Amino acid sequence: MTSQIALITGANKGIGFATARALADAGHTVLLGARDPERGAKAAAETGTRFIRLDVTDPATIAAAAELIDTEYGRLDILVNNAAITRDLRRVPADIPVADLREAYETNVFGVVAVTNAMLPLLRRSPVGQIGNVSSGLGTFAVLDDPDQAGSTLRAYANLLTYNSSKAALNAVTLIYANTLRDSGIRVNALSPGHCATDLNNNTGPAPASVGGEQVARLLIDGTGTGQFLNENGGTYPW
Ligand SMILES: NC(=O)c1ccc[n+]([C@@H]2O[C@H](COP(=O)([O-])OP(=O)(O)OC[C@H]3O[C@@H](n4cnc5c(N)ncnc54)[C@H](OP(=O)(O)O)[C@@H]3O)[C@@H](O)[C@H]2O)c1
Repeated sequence: MTSQIALITGANKGIGFATARALADAGHTVLLGARDPERGAKAAAETGTRFIRLDVTDPATIAAAAELIDTEYGRLDILVNNAAITRDLRRVPADIPVADLREAYETNVFGVVAVTNAMLPLLRRSPVGQIGNVSSGLGTFAVLDDPDQAGSTLRAYANLLTYNSSKAALNAVTLIYANTLRDSGIRVNALSPGHCATDLNNNTGPAPASVGGEQVARLLIDGTGTGQFLNENGGTYPW
């Protein structure tokens, strides 16, 4: 199958936006998910994609998105769970209220499960269905256990309670879906865009978001396995 149908969450800016552009440039039909209609429509116009309203914490928008895709396309080939937030704000864990942690999990973990479950019937109709969960090496137990493994540029971020623990949960979610969907042929992987300058990190990353988006798109297009954490260097991260 040459042209695939892809849905990307949180794609009005940053790495999601760049992923949408890269997949569209590669000839795929891209549904650009965004929670804000104005920002989403503008981003879609800039990327040659189609805006689809989707707040990953809002079940009504998730159901409406699934219904629209069902009616208009009848299937989904690629789901990219990209939307994420952080609530760390330079605070140490002792200063972070549980409500803030819960907010991060609502988007970064529960939102992924909600969108995935809503889109699974559509992914099952694809002969090449795959789910890419955009994650971070900061959420691996390898880095949590030995923060020096994060490398010099990321070492300072190795103990972020809301972001890193929610990405660790996302990594576990990724493996559980990969295991349980293996027989259906739907591939499920965690994807690392690499460290990019985006609003998420106050634009402090060394690479532009376009590099991260192209990276994610390449992993989606070229990837073959399931249950892997594919990294930006063409290899895999240890979980
Ligand atoms: N930047 C990096 O160095 C880096 C490294 C590794 C992994 N990542 C991952 O890459 C992904 C994209 O992050 P980014 O760096 O591009 O951050 P970003 O520029 O802050 O973009 C985050 C996107 O998620 C959207 N979003 C947030 N909450 C949402 C919700 N409830 N429903 C729908 N969309 C929502 C935002 O929409 P609004 O504009 O409406 O807020 C925005 O479009 C994330 O999963 C992040 O963890 C980033």
